[in-house]
Amino acid sequence: MAEIRYLGHAGFTVEHNGTRLLMDPWFFPAFLGSWFPYPDNRHLLPEVRDGHWDYLYVSHAHEDHYDEKLLAGLDRSITVLVAKYRSKIMVKHFRALGFENVIALEHKESLELAPGFTVTVYLDTSHKEDSGLLVDVDGYRFLDLNDCNTAMSELPTDVDLLAAQFSGAMWYPNCYDYPPALMAEKVAGVRGDLMDTLYRKAKLTGARAYLPSAGPACFLDPDLAEYNDRDSTIFPVWDQVADGFTEACPDIEVLRLGPGDSLDVDPAAKTAVTRRLPDSTLDEDLGAYRERRRAEWEEFHEGPEPEVTMGEVEGYFSTLQRWNKRFLGDYSKDIRLITGTTNWDVRLGRLAEHFVIEGEEPYDPDYTLLVPPRVLRAIVDGRTGWEEALLSMRLGLHREPDVFDLTFMGLLRYGNHPAQTMQMLRERQNTETIERGGLRLQRFCPHAGEDLSFADIGGGRIECPRHHWIWDARTGKCVDKASIDLRVEVLDENSPVLVAEKTQDQLPS
Ligand code: FES
Repeated sequence: MAEIRYLGHAGFTVEHNGTRLLMDPWFFPAFLGSWFPYPDNRHLLPEVRDGHWDYLYVSHAHEDHYDEKLLAGLDRSITVLVAKYRSKIMVKHFRALGFENVIALEHKESLELAPGFTVTVYLDTSHKEDSGLLVDVDGYRFLDLNDCNTAMSELPTDVDLLAAQFSGAMWYPNCYDYPPALMAEKVAGVRGDLMDTLYRKAKLTGARAYLPSAGPACFLDPDLAEYNDRDSTIFPVWDQVADGFTEACPDIEVLRLGPGDSLDVDPAAKTAVTRRLPDSTLDEDLGAYRERRRAEWEEFHEGPEPEVTMGEVEGYFSTLQRWNKRFLGDYSKDIRLITGTTNWDVRLGRLAEHFVIEGEEPYDPDYTLLVPPRVLRAIVDGRTGWEEALLSMRLGLHREPDVFDLTFMGLLRYGNHPAQTMQMLRERQNTETIERGGLRLQRFCPHAGEDLSFADIGGGRIECPRHHWIWDARTGKCVDKASIDLRVEVLDENSPVLVAEKTQDQLPS
């Protein structure tokens, strides 16, 4: 027998014959005090912090997985398991915290923790540094994918239990200034894409059961209260998507667990029996929760509004661009930072002097970021990165044209770790191709490296199965969501996949 216990969000424990594994425990607010676990799991903190753990696995560096405040309180003799990322970020983090036994595992590398208890790490092998863990206890296979997007061709199969994200964890589109109707359309699109990706993961892994997890979080700071709206954001709760899942995956059992609930696993019978605690809950009274954590979300607002100077902004972007010189190449972009009452126009890609101009509005920027002074102060000081600042939902965004710019976002999100932007460069140059439906096309998606062997091809279009970018099958021109084209060569002019589907107004009435 083995026990899998849910800690809330993406946290689990697995115990088998006395060996105890702790996975992604998250308790304290993340991303500039904005995200909190939902439902509240703080009642589990003492037993997690003071418990005896043989192994700890932390999937990636996002603060809702790598909870430094909690980790700093754990016994340093625990053996830490992390994925071997190019940036080595996880190893560096844990060493800095004083953990000496840190094992970094490659993609698909396994480790036997004890007889009959093996783990295997699955990486997102693109520039994104994220991982999932396959836990095998006497043949019962529990795959915790949290919010990791391992390429579909790389996923394990014959999975008994899948835990994976179904709700969003991203600032797009809700931080953009779209008018209400367009926002609603974009939110619906993202929610649909998230579920479609989940269905594919569930089917490809052969999952027999699915456990909704890894979100949504909640936002207790009243400034961010709008993001708790489960209808108008990309952060739905399970009940809103449950019917769709059942329809798409009718043979997969859904197991609902609240923080503290557990599964008694019988590996021989391949069964997992749910054990709910009498007081466990699947939702939360946000008003009461907000009061309980008042001191924690108020911390962000403490002290006078900080100031940031033009010289600091210029110095920051100058360094960022220097670190990513090869990645940027001849790229250029005009952005505007609006912080408090100050505007700065930043001309990215021009390392000449004075590429930051204050307040004159001499040109229309391609991208405008409303950044509260506290957030910009934290970024300039290196206390947080743009990725975390964006995830905090404390920024407002506008882009013109409304097209995703991979280089700009790559610079902001990964520019502090040039190992990641260099990988983006390699991905751009990757020449591996596949042949499908009379086409030869690049194998990996130019967005985030999904394996296009699993793309939907037909009706004159190629659609990536992960975030659903769409390209013209004949030309490779990106026709939806972004502006990055796909390398495509037509091998068979008569291929049926080239025939465009008729649009509604072309159909005979
Ligand atoms: S990986 Fe994002 S659209 Fe393909």
